[in-house]
Amino acid sequence: MIPPPCLASPSRYDRPDFYRRCGRWGLKLPMISLGLWQNFGGDDVLENSRATARRAFDLGITHFDLANNYGPPYGSAEETFGHLMASDFRPYRDEMIISTKAGYDMWPGPYGNYGSRKYLLASLDQSLRRMGLSYVDIFYHHRPDPETPLEETAGALAQAVRSGRALYTGISNYPPELTSRMVAILRDLGTPCLIHQPKYNMFERTPEQGLFEVLSTEGIGCIAFSPLAQGMLTNRYLSGIPADSRAARNRRFLKPEQITPEIVHKARALNELAKARGQSLSQMALSWVLRQPAVTSALIGASSPTQVEENVAAANNTKFDSGELERIDQILSPNTSHPL
Ligand SMILES: NC(=O)c1ccc[n+]([C@@H]2O[C@H](COP(=O)([O-])OP(=O)(O)OC[C@H]3O[C@@H](n4cnc5c(N)ncnc54)[C@H](OP(=O)(O)O)[C@@H]3O)[C@@H](O)[C@H]2O)c1
Repeated sequence: MIPPPCLASPSRYDRPDFYRRCGRWGLKLPMISLGLWQNFGGDDVLENSRATARRAFDLGITHFDLANNYGPPYGSAEETFGHLMASDFRPYRDEMIISTKAGYDMWPGPYGNYGSRKYLLASLDQSLRRMGLSYVDIFYHHRPDPETPLEETAGALAQAVRSGRALYTGISNYPPELTSRMVAILRDLGTPCLIHQPKYNMFERTPEQGLFEVLSTEGIGCIAFSPLAQGMLTNRYLSGIPADSRAARNRRFLKPEQITPEIVHKARALNELAKARGQSLSQMALSWVLRQPAVTSALIGASSPTQVEENVAAANNTKFDSGELERIDQILSPNTSHPL
């Protein structure tokens, strides 16, 4: 039976401290945001995607992150989101921050990838059509393009904002130096960069080497993607690879061979520490990302409403004492030997 249209929970904004200012800008984002990279494609079960997104919104998650090629197939996550807008979320559009991106491969030929003005603006028009929206809140360049001048890419992002097709600009996967240059160009164009989207989790700490400093200095927000390392920082793989997990189902982005004995050993040790803090492993992993002052929001994926519920509760405790942080560093250290 198809559930009736969304009547959002009246308690969804009961925790005002769940929202953090995006850098120095006026926009606030929820501490936990939901990404539609996986589990919302044409190959997934629409009613599960719908239940997951609705539960997220009921729990105060106002931000939904997409990209042109999320699926599979490419484009289908935006189409799913378009269905959800029509079936549930249309009355709540002004309560939602919806982002999309262009930068990776989307359509064949020289104009469907990377960072040209031609690609970015055509892609944004396609995304708006698929989602049934007149504008997105944030339009990102998904990754740096080694061949297109930054001025051209920035000009396309600025044009997206000036034309009313996006409210804010963002960049993703840009290293610190390129971030500084892009931020300066966007500022000069009068369409400042709102936010950066890097990968950041306990197993991937590269943003600590310069990026957070740039973002803090510039007053730019940060939304950390894959904060659970695609599930490796949850209870998913503590004892084997379940048949319904990403590592078993989606062998393109998380391969079973990535679940190494060393990863499992570290995850088990972190799980013990999480228990001592009164959290699950996924909650502690999210709290750890959110402890970082530069981070505005942790951008999770979820394959069920229950995962969203568990993860949102991470926001209740983002404080760590120095002993806990030291223990985490020790567990994560490549120099710590693990019984394999
Ligand atoms: N900018 C970029 O280049 C880029 C790249 C990648 C992702 N992203 C964005 O980041 C979002 C999140 O990425 P991600 O999906 O890799 O994030 P993630 O939060 O690291 O991993 C999500 C996966 O972890 C598992 N999980 C989540 N909560 C769980 C819980 N409480 N207990 C057990 N397992 C749990 C689920 O896997 P199962 O399916 O196994 O249940 C879920 O699909 C994407 O949707 C996208 O919006 C951006």
